[in-house]
Amino acid sequence: MARQLFSTPTGMHDFLPSDQPYWEKIRREIFDMAEFYDFGHVATPILEHQGVFEKSLGVASDVVEKEMFTLKTKGGDDLALRPENTAPVMRAYLEHGWESLPQPVKVFYLGPMFRHENPQAGRFRQFNQFGFEVLGSEDPVIDAELILIATNLLKDFGVKNLICEINSLGDKVCRVKYRVALKDYFRNNIKKMCPNCQRRFKNNPLRILDCKEERCREVIAKAPQILDFICEDCRSHFKKLLEFLEELEIPYTLNPHLVRGLDYYARTVFEIYAEERRSAQSALISGGRYDGLAELLGGKNVPAAGFAGGMERIINEMKEAKAKVSARSQPRIFLVQLGDLAKKKSLKILEEFRKNNILLAESLGKHSIKTQMKLADKWEVKLTLIFGQKEALDNEIIIRDMTSGMQETIPLTKLIGEVKKRLKS
Ligand code: HAM
Repeated sequence: MARQLFSTPTGMHDFLPSDQPYWEKIRREIFDMAEFYDFGHVATPILEHQGVFEKSLGVASDVVEKEMFTLKTKGGDDLALRPENTAPVMRAYLEHGWESLPQPVKVFYLGPMFRHENPQAGRFRQFNQFGFEVLGSEDPVIDAELILIATNLLKDFGVKNLICEINSLGDKVCRVKYRVALKDYFRNNIKKMCPNCQRRFKNNPLRILDCKEERCREVIAKAPQILDFICEDCRSHFKKLLEFLEELEIPYTLNPHLVRGLDYYARTVFEIYAEERRSAQSALISGGRYDGLAELLGGKNVPAAGFAGGMERIINEMKEAKAKVSARSQPRIFLVQLGDLAKKKSLKILEEFRKNNILLAESLGKHSIKTQMKLADKWEVKLTLIFGQKEALDNEIIIRDMTSGMQETIPLTKLIGEVKKRLKS
């Protein structure tokens, strides 16, 4: 019978050692940026009550309607694997009474998110996001600071040619007027549009603006634009944000059809792309203001804004842009061991090097001296330590200088000091 091997579930991937330099770079830059701008690290559970997402993203959003991984616990709780982390952060704000802290509260996170999407390039069922959120301020300077951080992070990762698309969705009052105008407009055209748009027409007409189908794009192009409907306060908020961006010399493109798929957004929304791959699925970072979210979750009014970046998409982009990432540090010493006693004692030698913070390559799984010496050559080390049966019995070790070929036998007790001296010279 043919053996059947398991593979990862659809849309989920292993993160392999060869990708780690990219992950490490992203993590390092995020932690540095967070420290500079004084964002605290928050880690919320991977599972939340389903209601956290239903109430905040909206039951008509694609994420809640079609994409949540849900489960019932033995105790009868309805939980969901988090599809995003803004709602959990606001849940944490309300649960821990962060409104009594100095405002705004600034936090960042990184970790896996889950959406049951149709897997395709840049769209997975398990993916990793990092996010920065500022809770407790409605000042447009916060929106500008977030866009600055987002673009600078992407630049620090090595991604080039960024475009930042931006729009304002108004608040929940002025959006009602826009929704009515949109429905009036689409009512006359809906028969020409795709089944998805026909469905959205009923429960979420703003999402029609997102549709990528050619026949729908033609209709959408002539649709009323939200900026003509937003109120004076929202208009002035948006204007101030654009002035900050100009002051910071961050190029942006106004996209009147940018609506984002989640109910909690109000006022600013933005998406950042690498120019070459500006397509439906390629926003590297997306975010916006979600002033109404706290109320949707049963709390008081907490104006807030933030963004999240998709780490797999960004890593892909870093590879395209040939971004520099530091490879594993190169060891300058190799340990060759021969025989059972030497192998046993080698583990202790490795520990000594680790405690002294000196990188040492080894191949404990190999027996032949020839194979091990070949590996030492491959690593291009400066020193090879040769530890055979006799040396192990006498508590000694041979140090070979790989450039001169000179060898010397020294007591094990002097090994670390001798290696340090020779590495310096
Ligand atoms: P989002 O646009 O749903 O927004 O996701 C943010 C980013 O996560 C996207 O720009 C993309 O890079 C990545 N992403 C989303 N879905 C997938 C997927 N299926 N596969 C791979 N990458 C994906 C949010 O999640 C909001 N919470 C952002 C936010 C934070 N708004 C305010 N604060």
